[in-house]
Amino acid sequence: MEAMAEKKTRRQTKPSPSDDVSEAQIAVHWQEQNYFPVPKDFTAQANLTDKGVFKRFALEKFPGYYKEFAELLDWYKKWDQIFDGSHPPFWRWFVGGKINASYNCVDRHLAKHRNKTAIHFVPEPQNEAIQHVTYQELYVRVNEFAALLRDFCGLKAGDRVTLHMPMVAELPITMLACARLGVIHSQVFSGFSGKACADRVSDSESRVLITMDAYYRGGKLLEHKEKADIAVAEAAKDGHELEKVLVWQRYAGKYSSQAKLVEGRDFVINDLLPKYRGKRIDPVQMPADASLFLMYTSGTTGKPKGAQHSIGGYLSYVTWTSKYVQDIHPEDVYWCMADIGWITGHSYIVYGPLALAASSVVYEGVPTHPDPGRPWRIAEELGVNIFHTSPTAIRALRKDGPDEPGKYNYRFKHMTTVGEPIEPEVWKWYFNVVGKKQAVIVDTWWQTETGGFLCSTMPGIHKMKPGSAGPGIPGIHPVIYDDEGKELKAGSGRAGNICIRNPWPGIMQTIWKDSDRFVRVYYARYCKDPKSKNWRDWPYMAGDGAAQTKDGYYRILGRIDDVINVAGHRLGTKEIESAALLVPEVVEAAVVPVADPIKGKVPDLYVALRPGLKPSDELAKKVSASVVSEIGAIARPRQVIIVPDMPKTRSGKIMRRVLAAISNRQDTGDVSTLANPEVVDKIRARRLEPSATRSSAIWSAMGPTRSPCWTWSRSTRRRARSWCSATTTLQQSVSPSAASTPPRKRRSLGRKRSSAAGSAPSWTACLSPSGTTTSCSFMPAPRRRSAGPMSPGRGKRSTA
Ligand code: WTA
Repeated sequence: MEAMAEKKTRRQTKPSPSDDVSEAQIAVHWQEQNYFPVPKDFTAQANLTDKGVFKRFALEKFPGYYKEFAELLDWYKKWDQIFDGSHPPFWRWFVGGKINASYNCVDRHLAKHRNKTAIHFVPEPQNEAIQHVTYQELYVRVNEFAALLRDFCGLKAGDRVTLHMPMVAELPITMLACARLGVIHSQVFSGFSGKACADRVSDSESRVLITMDAYYRGGKLLEHKEKADIAVAEAAKDGHELEKVLVWQRYAGKYSSQAKLVEGRDFVINDLLPKYRGKRIDPVQMPADASLFLMYTSGTTGKPKGAQHSIGGYLSYVTWTSKYVQDIHPEDVYWCMADIGWITGHSYIVYGPLALAASSVVYEGVPTHPDPGRPWRIAEELGVNIFHTSPTAIRALRKDGPDEPGKYNYRFKHMTTVGEPIEPEVWKWYFNVVGKKQAVIVDTWWQTETGGFLCSTMPGIHKMKPGSAGPGIPGIHPVIYDDEGKELKAGSGRAGNICIRNPWPGIMQTIWKDSDRFVRVYYARYCKDPKSKNWRDWPYMAGDGAAQTKDGYYRILGRIDDVINVAGHRLGTKEIESAALLVPEVVEAAVVPVADPIKGKVPDLYVALRPGLKPSDELAKKVSASVVSEIGAIARPRQVIIVPDMPKTRSGKIMRRVLAAISNRQDTGDVSTLANPEVVDKIRARRLEPSATRSSAIWSAMGPTRSPCWTWSRSTRRRARSWCSATTTLQQSVSPSAASTPPRKRRSLGRKRSSAAGSAPSWTACLSPSGTTTSCSFMPAPRRRSAGPMSPGRGKRSTA
């Protein structure tokens, strides 16, 4: 039996004509789950229980229904037009309206909620007191800092400012001070390197960088100001001058960095602020379609793209979704454990919750520091009742402290998961143990580009189904297209590219300084007529594979492009490969995603050296260090594997699919069509012998790998099942579970490649009528680029 299954698997893993791999190929899939009812106590108090909302937000009623979103905000001047679609796909929302985001998140709450906490700042060290910033205090601090930005830095509406700040109360204060002036902020994740920060500074042409001297993470006070020095120097190499660096102090009145302050350039904010004490700045009345912020995110090329978000549309969208999907009431204590350096933090720590006068928790550190009971102690102490986090954090907390939540006296009414697919087993732990069976869960699918949630169950309306995000939220009308642009109906049993039929106010306005890329990446694929002025001809393509079951719920299968989703954070493979190629000894680099029990995916980095060079541990470390210094520790490869040669097609392209199979300990399929098939066995033989990883051709920069639950040998299959139950790993082939499914139960779709498909990637999958994935395959776009020596990015920095 086993041998037959093995044979079948081999047959079905014949390499595709494509030569590449993406995260989607090794996305995890699972059996269809049963529904879970929503706890009654939740529904009794929910902001939205009326099922009629979907009729009100029917596609025929677009765009009128979005008025309801905008009406949640205070406007200086009401809009003349809800939606202007005259220049597709550059949509404009609430045209003619005048608004200020800072006013809506701060000033308007003073009358009723002056003494309510706006931000609970929880320092990582447990011996430091939690700071409770009231709306009144937030108002004062935002005003004073806005005065400083205006009068000391000369900043005005439309200017861009880069923030490179950790998770401290001063970060939302800084964002709101910018918003007050109409200044566009671009917050860079604090874990990113100085170089990555510089790339974003140059691209956005920021004259001012705002940072902090140091912050706590994992029990250590990390030096941070030094990254600003690197950012200034690197931006200068790009020909961009940063005039001022403003430095917040982690401990006001004490400079906690070793890095020197450069006279005339660097200024300690806490020293300057007394000059602005008591200053009040009238919020600038901004056009609704002016920009609020830029958020850089990874794409298929090495250059991160600055998603540009509007004030009126974005703020309406995150406010409505915070109220009805997050179910935030003003009396709630809301904790989203994301980092404000990512879109989730912008939308659902700062703008959405504060627009609703909630109390929002900002936690500085690592969730499991100093022990996995920490989040539950914080929840108990602050009376948190809405909790929002990622599958990665849930997995880590489950692994390290499966029984911890039960030891603390907190009660959540609502919990969110976001950023990556959540395994049903992990979902159930979240529900049973963290939520104590009393909290509703929403699995929200969305992206940096989309501003806010797209698919989710509505917590007061729908039943929950582990592993499925749910239907489109009210007003969002998703559709799944196959390669030919044919619609795949709910329950069709097929997976394709998920798109959104209609524009919505939260969608980014464009990519900063790159409108062509905006159109190309998100709209070109399924636009029927590029000249059309009708929004119906411009579906938004998200870049994720998905399937829809009969009940209308969407299951997100993973990225279809070259983006690796590490711990719910997007990293471009090209960015990592380009960083590796900066090491002079390296001639070729290829990154593949590897399934990880905690982080979802992690990158494995394969490199080949210049002829005549010997591999060494030092070299592997150097390559890893280059990635960390170019991008940040988040992109650190699990391993750097130095190979004698890359597996290549006859035309010389690197076969990442083969490397991904090796890294994930899967069948590489038929490699006989490779130009150098012999190299595959060499790499695999070395890769599978832990003792060899440091001794000859292959080096690991990170030490021995952990035992992967996704290795489908007989002995490990049992282990995998106990860990993640029905989770299977599918790679351009059938999963082991599919292999053992009788063929008549499978509905294979075969793969078609039409000219219409062009060079775009595509999904095909086989689902049982009930929605159980039985097999799945992915056909990525052929790469135009090569990471080899001829690559245009060679020798250059990878990011913008
Ligand atoms: C993935 C994060 C499955 C998806 C808000 C998307 C998800 C990318 C989910 C965007 C979810 C996000 N289930 N996958 N609930 N939410 N993703 O821009 O691949 O950092 O395209 O935004 O994360 O990541 P981004």
